[in-house]
Amino acid sequence: MKILVVALLCFTSAFAHYISDDKQFETLQKTDFSKEQVWPLPQQYVMGSDFFIIRPGNFKFLYGSKCDIIKQAIQRYQKIIFRECSKSSVDDKSNLHLNSNVQLLNLTIKVVGPCEKYPYMNMDEQYILRINTSDTINSALLFSTTVWGALRGLETFSQLVFNLQKGIFGIYSGSIRDFPRFPYRGLMLDTSRHFIPVPVLLKNLDAMAQTKLNVFHWHIVDDQSFPYVSKKFPNLSLKGAYDSDTHIYTPTDISEVIEYARLRGIRVLVEYDTPGHTLSWGKGRPKLLTPCFSSGLPNGQLGPINPTKNETYQFLKAFFAEVINVFPDAYLHLGGDEVSFDCWASNPDIQAFMAEKKFGDNYALLEGYYISKLLNIIKSLNKSYIVWQEVFDNQVKIKPDTIVHIWKNGYKSELTNVTLAGYNAILSACWYLSDIAYGNDWISYYSCEPHDFSGTEKQKRLVIGGEACMWGEYVDGTNVITRTWPRAAAVAEKLWSSQSVANSTQAMPRLEKLRCNMIKNGLKVEPVNGPGYCQCDFVV
Ligand SMILES: *[C@@H]1O[C@H](CO)[C@@H](O)[C@H](O)[C@H]1NC(C)=O
Repeated sequence: MKILVVALLCFTSAFAHYISDDKQFETLQKTDFSKEQVWPLPQQYVMGSDFFIIRPGNFKFLYGSKCDIIKQAIQRYQKIIFRECSKSSVDDKSNLHLNSNVQLLNLTIKVVGPCEKYPYMNMDEQYILRINTSDTINSALLFSTTVWGALRGLETFSQLVFNLQKGIFGIYSGSIRDFPRFPYRGLMLDTSRHFIPVPVLLKNLDAMAQTKLNVFHWHIVDDQSFPYVSKKFPNLSLKGAYDSDTHIYTPTDISEVIEYARLRGIRVLVEYDTPGHTLSWGKGRPKLLTPCFSSGLPNGQLGPINPTKNETYQFLKAFFAEVINVFPDAYLHLGGDEVSFDCWASNPDIQAFMAEKKFGDNYALLEGYYISKLLNIIKSLNKSYIVWQEVFDNQVKIKPDTIVHIWKNGYKSELTNVTLAGYNAILSACWYLSDIAYGNDWISYYSCEPHDFSGTEKQKRLVIGGEACMWGEYVDGTNVITRTWPRAAAVAEKLWSSQSVANSTQAMPRLEKLRCNMIKNGLKVEPVNGPGYCQCDFVV
């Protein structure tokens, strides 16, 4: 049988490169080949014309080692892969595939490296997947250097298998070499504007694993509520959560999220945004915040964290010493965005402090003073950090390995400036998924290219990835999955696949297929391309 070579790295039309005079192929082409493709698109993908039948009862994952990450992934994928359509014979009306008498019996998984515990920045995620009759007898092979690569490969394998008839599945031969374009591929959820229950956070991690995203940025607290339960400072959530019984994340809840993410190769990067966005901290710890004044008198309102008091930094040191034991990732997100200076400027103690420090009336210098002290605390705790772009914009002294998170309009010049100063950058400005619009809005996310700014090759390399952001004003447990997905998948493909994968018209049928797959896997995700339906008719 002829081998059809599809170098998807550089393809210009989904079908133009299938070159064959093979009769069987012509028939296959009439069925929808896009069904058999993967999201995000692999870096190198050579598809064969051979076809294998898979019977779930006969199929085995062969894995000789003991790593729990892989063993549990096998159990998960066994279920995901062999979940059936509710209608029989959904993908193959012609029965053509059923004529194949070659059965795929195994997927052999070989991981070179050790059973690492937690995923981390710059982990190796590459893998090779071969589904070839010539290689071995009826076995597909998955090779990777790390367990993280094996997880990515298992996901790809699961997307290649499709349901033919009741109890019968199929897969095309082929060979994939794959690796991410960017090491940092994130999704941010905000659990302060609305609380999001843990089971929904876990569903979101399922969707992230399906699209190979690897950082869950957890914007856990903000002005509106403080759901994080601190052991050292229980009043923070007792007073600051919307409901201190039901709308909280206990240490057990957080461990569950981290463990679920770990098993899927996803880092949990927590954000405690200060000195602004901290009103909810003040409920349980009023003296932490700045009293605002009107006409020379306290007006009862509280502003950003009070940066002038020693107790502020004693508290922050104790608080973050706890946090770093709860969240194992090497990075913390420290926020630093949108600090409003009015309240600081109204307060006589702060005015006196400004005069003493010779800051004039430049409150950015006061913010810088606070952030520098906070960064020193975090450094003394041996953590690295990510900050929102204002920290860089206000010229606060930051460690050379700081990652600057770019979110504002005019992001191209910001990318130039941040990388010119030698810092790593992650991009979110074009991926604010909370800003919804009528129509196929994923196309605008899909056309945002993180290297589209003026700078040298060296500068471009400092852009280590990006993040889709779903702010919480209009989402909670009822709709966050539906609204975030599959739109965030557009960002996931920009961050994983080759730069040349940029044509949304070609991506559209694959995105449709991904959405239907997500529904099959129990995620209620919204339609994004106007009228249509899922062939595999799971009730939504
Ligand atoms: C917590 O708040 C209560 C008042 O509700 C107060 O009596 C207690 O001292 C506070 N605890 C701490 C550690 O501040």
